[in-house]
Amino acid sequence: MKRNVIVGQSGGPTAAINSSLAGVYRTAIDRGAKKVYGMIHGVQGLLNEHYLDLSKYIQSDLDVELLKRTPAAFLGSCRYKLPEIHENKEVYEKLFAILDKLDIEAFIYIGGNDSMDTIKKLSDYAILTGHNTRFIGCPKTIDNDLALTDHTPGYGSAAKYIGTSMKEIIRDSFCLEYPKGLVTIVEIMGRNAGWLTGAAALSKAEDCDGPDLIYLPEVTFNLDDFKDKVKKLLEKKSSVVVAVSEGIRSADGKYVCEHGSNVDFVDAFGHKQLSGTASFLANYIAGELGAKTRAIELSTLQRAGSHLASRVDILEAYQVGGAAVKAADEGDSGQMVVLQRISDDPYQCQTAVKNVHKIANDEKCVPKNWICKNGTYVSDDFVNYVTPLIQGDLSPVMVDGIPRHLCIPKELYKK
Ligand code: F6P
Repeated sequence: MKRNVIVGQSGGPTAAINSSLAGVYRTAIDRGAKKVYGMIHGVQGLLNEHYLDLSKYIQSDLDVELLKRTPAAFLGSCRYKLPEIHENKEVYEKLFAILDKLDIEAFIYIGGNDSMDTIKKLSDYAILTGHNTRFIGCPKTIDNDLALTDHTPGYGSAAKYIGTSMKEIIRDSFCLEYPKGLVTIVEIMGRNAGWLTGAAALSKAEDCDGPDLIYLPEVTFNLDDFKDKVKKLLEKKSSVVVAVSEGIRSADGKYVCEHGSNVDFVDAFGHKQLSGTASFLANYIAGELGAKTRAIELSTLQRAGSHLASRVDILEAYQVGGAAVKAADEGDSGQMVVLQRISDDPYQCQTAVKNVHKIANDEKCVPKNWICKNGTYVSDDFVNYVTPLIQGDLSPVMVDGIPRHLCIPKELYKK
């Protein structure tokens, strides 16, 4: 590389997104980039010339290792939708003037399907105007819903956290007896894709039966049917544990969480804030069946749990960051790095690049034939797909018994 690189993080954070940032930084330096800039709060921050020189904050090999083990977005994130080029050229002129000022050769954006929309539009604008900056997407999302890649960095660690937490919840749920039983409902992220919720099945092993029911957003949810199933289970056992996706919907297309409360926050991409499914269902079951209920929203914990990160995931995230820089250095633009699985046993994966136009804004859902028991569980094929992605641990660097993270001074997040 002869000039500079700029990297940003966008969308929901994960336990692995900073490992991709570390991979971008290390590879850019190794390939001769003069400077590696980090956008603060993604492209939204860049529009306000909010960025930093990463070499000031990643100063040693230990810093790189700490960054790989630090959850959330080191640079801050955003959910910012660029306008269509024909709607507002000024935004693009402004952004490209900033890129020129910083002498940017490669623009790497670590994010999910909405963030790939940014790479798509910026690379299109570069072609339109004959600009020579290259734009590469680096996949990241716990939701695992990006097309054309076997899986996304961030998913493996979240799946490991979910499988583990589910097992701990099930273990706990059998300790006390309640007259009409205990129903525990665990709400899992993933929006309209059930990859994360399905990972609840990973808890099933010789020492654990796994959840009794798993409801994915790919299957229409029926409240009466749910109640009947829970009632039948309570006739046989004192504790019932159910995994539900935050994105389950009733036949009228409404999210189940919308039945419980007014969900009025909608982000720039039109996504409603999904939360409250478990508490709505727990209240409903308590009212209908008189059982003791508990609603557990894994919420932020499932994407920030780096103490339980998957080694495979963190290392792949790092590899994918490096592959993004390599692709830009070799002349690619308008592409996203993908992971291609070569084999399950031994597990092997390689990186490649795919046209971001075929990925942006799309949502890859769990295939129908991986959903079983009338839409209330996932198949062995699903479990076999996820299992290699959760393997190995990457212990945090512990200081005084608590993981140490690499971070920038808080003031830098504000302009
Ligand atoms: O897109 C990733 C994700 O974690 C989704 O699973 C979830 O619905 C959403 O982000 C939550 O976003 P926020 O933190 O903005 O509420």
